[in-house]
Amino acid sequence: MKPIILALSSLNSVNAHYVFSRLIANNIVTKDFEYIRPLPLKNDGSDWTGVLAPLTDPLSLAFRCGPNATTSGPQTKTMEVRAGDTVGFEMGEPHFRYGNFDPYDVPRLYHPGPLTVWLSKAPNDDLDSYTGDGDWFKILQVIERTEQSIELDKRVLFQEYPSTRQWGAYLTPNWNFTIPATTPPGKYLLRFEHIQAGIVDGSYVAKTQYYQNCAQISIVNEGSRIGTPGPLVKIPGTYADGQPEFIWDDWDMNFDIKKFKMPGPAVWQG
Ligand SMILES: *[C@@H]1O[C@H](CO)[C@@H](O)[C@H](O)[C@H]1NC(C)=O
Ligand SMILES: *[C@@H]1O[C@H](CO)[C@@H](O)[C@H](O)[C@H]1NC(C)=O
Repeated sequence: MKPIILALSSLNSVNAHYVFSRLIANNIVTKDFEYIRPLPLKNDGSDWTGVLAPLTDPLSLAFRCGPNATTSGPQTKTMEVRAGDTVGFEMGEPHFRYGNFDPYDVPRLYHPGPLTVWLSKAPNDDLDSYTGDGDWFKILQVIERTEQSIELDKRVLFQEYPSTRQWGAYLTPNWNFTIPATTPPGKYLLRFEHIQAGIVDGSYVAKTQYYQNCAQISIVNEGSRIGTPGPLVKIPGTYADGQPEFIWDDWDMNFDIKKFKMPGPAVWQG
């Protein structure tokens, strides 16, 4: 029998999706799209096939802050945080449900794949009109499991899901990380990105799926050390269409996550 998690993974690839809709800051999990630039969702949040369909083109503008996301933010709140603070995200509504089947009880990062977080400073601190066309740098990359990774419940996953191929953020409902202590003060877009493999089944080839949303934050830094973030990149522009590292076989039980090489710039440590 094929492991069910992989069956669900294939199913999800057709119609499923998840959103980084809740910013975590100052130990508060904020409301859906309160600090995240909104998507044109229906009020009942039921639009699975429209704007929440997975994005498959990493060269499109939608790759920046999500399909149909607003390109400016006057309707979005901006959260003040200090450089060095712990912030995070929680996956929010709407989210894909598979009946009442755990692990689909709460919104989660349903797909196996790498998680990254990025920052881009708005020119003249004008975040409301900033479209994100400036420079971006990466501040977090989660590939292998860490102490924040969730325990994968074998009763649900049934099988065989060797630790050598478990992605760190797989099925997580939320994740916390640090804004580098030497980040220059100013107003920033904080972008969350998660990627699902391009091939989900040995016999079925699908395009890589990209999930991303942007929060608005204002970073205060009264410290004596102000760093120079980098490497700087443009988004879109970090990955090619058909990026080879993002095509792997979810059915391959021999896949070794330690051999995965994340394309794109190095993480800025601050
Ligand atoms: C992240 O922080 C929030 C708020 O403090 C907390 O509710 C959540 O459990 C944390 N997540 C993890 C994985 O530690
Ligand atoms: C979302 O964007 C796509 C193109 O990227 C477009 O075809 C579609 O009509 C848009 N939907 C809404 C609700 O704006």
